[in-house]
Amino acid sequence: MLQLDQTESAIDIANPGIGSFELEREAPHRVQAGRATDALRLRNRQAVTESWNGREELLEGLNAPQAWIPSKYFYDSLGSQLFDAITHLPEYYPTRAEAAIFSRQIGDIARAVGTGRILIDLGAGNCEKAAGLFPALKPAHYVAVDISATYLETALARLRHRFPDIGMTGLGLDMSEGLSLPDSVPDARRLFFYPGSSIGNFTPADAARFLSGLRRQCQQQGGLLIGVDLIKDKAILDAAYDDALGVTAAFNRNLLARINRELGGTFDIAAFAHRAYYNEAEGRVEMHLVSRNAQHVLIDGYEVAFEKGESIHTENSYKYDDASLSALAEAGGFAIEQRWSDSKGYFADLLMVAE
Ligand code: TRP
Repeated sequence: MLQLDQTESAIDIANPGIGSFELEREAPHRVQAGRATDALRLRNRQAVTESWNGREELLEGLNAPQAWIPSKYFYDSLGSQLFDAITHLPEYYPTRAEAAIFSRQIGDIARAVGTGRILIDLGAGNCEKAAGLFPALKPAHYVAVDISATYLETALARLRHRFPDIGMTGLGLDMSEGLSLPDSVPDARRLFFYPGSSIGNFTPADAARFLSGLRRQCQQQGGLLIGVDLIKDKAILDAAYDDALGVTAAFNRNLLARINRELGGTFDIAAFAHRAYYNEAEGRVEMHLVSRNAQHVLIDGYEVAFEKGESIHTENSYKYDDASLSALAEAGGFAIEQRWSDSKGYFADLLMVAE
């Protein structure tokens, strides 16, 4: 079938011994990258795209009984901008709720976390969330990790100016493949920073494996400052992922546009509808693209058929409560030290310490 060149990958992925984990929806072929030096490693997005084993993984997903598309395809340049727009929507409360926690309770958070730590930002993007904490947390070193290295490069250049006393490192890698930190990142007092409820995009089992991977990279006084979205009224959750302006719909359907552009797809984008809803039994918001009619799509010459009403599952966003959060922390080898929430109790940030 499809033969992919595995020698071309340029990103750093997990050293199989450290912080690696098997994902439930794993493709049969994993990319193994050669280990680069432990210097600053910034790769361009093209290199990351090539290393994704794109077509094969995609075709396997689309042909599964419940079709699915890997969510990493959301974040091309347009996708990142659409997501940024989502964070401004009245219905999408998580970003604002977390921002309120970080602004109103920063003194308390700083007392719990302490200063002079090695702050490792997982999914840093424009680095602004972390930068907002710098004046209070005064980290000794800042390590920004993101799949889009191009974006990181510009963000870090700006930050170095504003905070000349903080050492800064950028790492362009796909964390869903695991995380291995260069030897230049000091071992002690690491604080992983994982805001925005990104943990919710893993299944609970994968989330626990992800935390265990971080735990293995904590030596003395290691910890994790993590943001999680909490279980709440279904109507609020439904609206947050299916907004009136249709921005989340555009974000979802951009997956198909990207596949057309980058992987030789022929998706008729208008022929797929956005569907998002809170699945109470599973404790997660699901996003789907639903085929409006019976149709065929070609991916680089391979045909995939969809029936009318058939869905492609594109994302999960798991919601937590205190019980499931305690279970997650414990499974990952952490203990919850403190928990902060917004006034409505919609969102929580937790300090977890390595056990
Ligand atoms: N992790 C966040 C959430 O689940 C952000 C996010 C990821 C998201 N994928 C998304 C938001 C898709 C909206 C749609 O809310």
